[in-house]
Order: sequence, then C-alpha cells, then structure tokens
Amino acid sequence: MVGIILLSVLGFVLVMLTAITYYLRSVVKEFDAADEAGDNVEKKKAGILSSQTFVYTAIILVSVAMAGALYIYVKGTPWEAHLMEWLNIVIRLMHITFGIAWIGASFYFVFLENALNRTNNVRDELAGNLWAIHGGGFYYLEKYKVAPKTIPKHLHWFKYEAYFTWLSGFCLLFVVYYFNASALLIDKNVLNITPITGIGIGVGSFAVAWIMYDLLCKSPLIKKPVLFTLIGLVVLVGFAYFYSHIFSGRAAYIHFGAMIGSIMVANVFFVIIPAQKAMVKAAREGVSVNPQLGKNALVRSLHNNYFTLPVLFVMISNHFPTTFGYENPWLILIIISVGTAGVKHYLNLRENGQLAVWIMPVSVVILLAGAFISAPPKDPGACNTKIEFSEVTAIIQARCISCHSSKPTDDVYKAPPNGVMYDTPDDIVRKKDLIMQRVVVTKTMPQNNKTNITQKERDIIRCWIEQGASMK
Ligand code: HEC
Repeated sequence: MVGIILLSVLGFVLVMLTAITYYLRSVVKEFDAADEAGDNVEKKKAGILSSQTFVYTAIILVSVAMAGALYIYVKGTPWEAHLMEWLNIVIRLMHITFGIAWIGASFYFVFLENALNRTNNVRDELAGNLWAIHGGGFYYLEKYKVAPKTIPKHLHWFKYEAYFTWLSGFCLLFVVYYFNASALLIDKNVLNITPITGIGIGVGSFAVAWIMYDLLCKSPLIKKPVLFTLIGLVVLVGFAYFYSHIFSGRAAYIHFGAMIGSIMVANVFFVIIPAQKAMVKAAREGVSVNPQLGKNALVRSLHNNYFTLPVLFVMISNHFPTTFGYENPWLILIIISVGTAGVKHYLNLRENGQLAVWIMPVSVVILLAGAFISAPPKDPGACNTKIEFSEVTAIIQARCISCHSSKPTDDVYKAPPNGVMYDTPDDIVRKKDLIMQRVVVTKTMPQNNKTNITQKERDIIRCWIEQGASMK
C-alpha cells in the first residue's frame, strides 16, 4: 500500500517536473531572441539555465526514488527478483553506454593530440591541425597553443560522460553486489563479515584510495615518473590483495575496478575540470593563467588513459571464472592490469612516433604468464574405478539443486541462477561441459562453496565426465 501511494505521488511530481522543462525551454527561446536583438539578458538567461539544470537533476532523483518505491511495492513477492533483473539491465546498459562515450572521447583526444599536423601551414597561434573523413563528411580541426583571442560562446565540455559513468556504476554496484551482499559480495570461506561491514569497507576503500593517490600526485614524486609508477603499482597490489582477502573473488575484482574508476572520475571532477574552468576564466578576463594548472590536468588525464584497459577488463571479468576463481585472485588481477597498461603504453608511444617495440612482447609475456599460472593441472589424476551415474546425481542433489532447480530452496536465489536447473538426468548430461568448467576446473561452483562440496566429489564429477558422462 505504502509503495502504491509513494509511486502515485512521485509519478505526479515527475509529470509536473517534465511540464516545467517545457516551460523553461520556451523562456530560454525568448531570451535567445532578445539576445539576438541586442538586449542584454545574459544574467536572466543564466538564471533560467541554472533552474533548468536544477529541474533535470530533480527528474533524475525522482526517477531513482520511483525505483525505490517500486521496490517497496514488490518486496517479498516473486516480482522482487524480476525488478532487480530489470534494474540491472537498465543500469548496466547506461553504465556501458556512458563508459563507451567517455573512454571513446578520451581515446579520440589522445589520438588527436598525437596525430596533429604541427608543421605544415600552421598559423602562428595554432599548435596544429588535422583533416579527417568520417561518416561521409570531411572534418577540419584546429588546436590552439594557448587559447583563442576570444573564448567562443558555445564551448563544448566533456565531463558528463565521466560523471554519469561513475554514478551508473555506483548504482550497479548496489543492485548487483550490495543488495545481494550475502550471496555475491561475501564469501564466508574468505572472510566471515556481515553485509553492512562489507559494504562499508567497499565504499570507504574508494575514498581512501583517492586520498592516497591524490597525495602521491601532489608530492614531489610526481616529477619522477618511474618511481611514481613503481610506488603506484605497490599501492595497487596492496588494494588487490586487500580486496581478495575481504570479498569473494568476483566482488574483489569489481571493487578493484570501481576503485580505479572512482580515481579516474575524481581526476576529472577535482582536477581536470577546475583547471579548465580557471583557464577559460583567465582567457575571458585577458589575464595569463598559471601554466601549472594545465600541466596538472594533463598528468591526471594521462594516468586516466593508462587506467582504461585494466578497468575495461574488470568490467568484463565476471564472465571469466578462471581469473577470479584462481586461488590467489589478486595476482591474476595485477598481471592483467600491468599487461594491459603495458599495451596502452606501447600504443601511446607509437602514436607519438616513438617506436619502443620491446614493450609489446614484454606485455604479452606478462599476460601469458597469467594464463599459465592460472591453468588447471595438466594431469589431474587417474580415474581408476568406473563412476556410476547415481553417484553423480547424489552429489548434484546435495550440492547444487538448492540453487539450480525450478524451485530453489536457497535463502537468496528464488529462481535458478542463469536459468541453470538440474532437475532431470538429462539436464545434468546436457550441461556437462559447463559443469566441468565451473566445478572441476575453476572450482567457482557451488557459488562460494556454500554447500560445502569436497575435492573428492569434484574428482568424482570429473572422472564421470572423462569416462563419457553416461547415464548409467
Ligand atoms: C548458492 C547457490 C548456488 C549453488 C549451491 C550452486 N550454484 Fe551454480 N550458479 C549460481 C549462480 C548465482 C550462478 C550465476 C553466476 C555465475 O555464473 O557465477 C551459477 C552459475 C552456474 C553455472 C554457469 C551457467 C552459465 O550459464 O554460465 C554452472 C555450470 C553452475 N552454476 C553449476 C553448478 C553446479 C554443478 C553446482 C553444484 C556442484 C552449483 N552450480 C551450485 C549459484 C549456485
């Protein structure tokens, strides 16, 4: 009942807010016309624009509150899991879309910087220019050495991509990991903590990481790139190690990525955008700007560039149980982070015209080392006795169907995860390859070994599959 009332009230507010946006837009149009006619309406227009921003923010907040009200409405019914699934879909789609826009723009500008024509027919005030063809049209871009003589009225800023990537990622962390903390965040075989403690540690760690990183950047170390990188790496190893000793492997990976992603966004929010604002302000007032501001922003932007590939890996990592399921998950995480950042380093140098070829094979060897150490034993042991199918079904009954059946009895999963059920012998035989992968090779099933499967039982399943997975 409370849910329905809340939903109706919020729905009404949402409709009102939407109507207000139309009204504000018509006022802005009037001001635009007055502006063109030469009236000085700059101040009034700025007022309207900020109320517009306010209304848009309110619309986002009300939409979030509506999702909350919907949750209250369906809580305790079979629709609860369904709502979570759809929230997951919507937020994940938003997260990857904003992330692609952000990283895409970032890659594009790094490319632009590296590919600028800086010598041929370049006007004095320019750093360089670039011709490009894309989407059936020719484009011509110019980069200024400092700033144009007058700052244009319409200056495009790249910042919302970053902010929305972070916000949607944070929401996703809640929807996937924190609302299901006892299932996905916490692994009692790693550390037995309550969900609230786990969530507190997770969120708190992002703030700690940013403070540490920011202090490092403000210390004299920033002038010594090699030492800075080494110390940064030690700190990153520390975080990866820490997370894998607090959370389940999967959640440890996601927290590592979210921690780096938070640093990246904080770089944009606290350093890069304020520096750009100061530059624009100085140019408008015709005073010279402290060049250090731009340099600081460039360093942070470069760090973000190196962070991109490791973060992208983390975003897809939960499809790869061999990585987070490894006995020392943090080690694989660090290996993949260093290897991919190495590849990025090679690409950056190459775009710049410096060909440091050795970096590529070294990075590849580092990545291969990760694949090698996480490989399962080549010879897992002989299977001397014939396994009866009844032994296998007994194990599945005891260890799996609390989650994987049409009516799970697990306290968290009310529907079979990923649609996987083992209700009939046929269900088991058909899924034998996936079972091999998850139960024997990566040992990531049963999830967090909640049902206490033994190594002997894993071996029985392996031998049964190796002997042909027959139903006899
Ligand atoms: C505590 C609940 C739980 C138990 C017990 C459990 N699983 Fe799972 N299983 C999950 C969840 C959640 C997923 C989806 C997330 C993932 O892939 O890690 C999953 C996914 C899987 C997948 C991957 C399906 C796919 O589409 O990729 C397989 C295979 C699997 N489980 C097999 C088993 C087997 C075999 C057992 C028993 C030895 C078992 N599980 C026990 C919760 C459980």
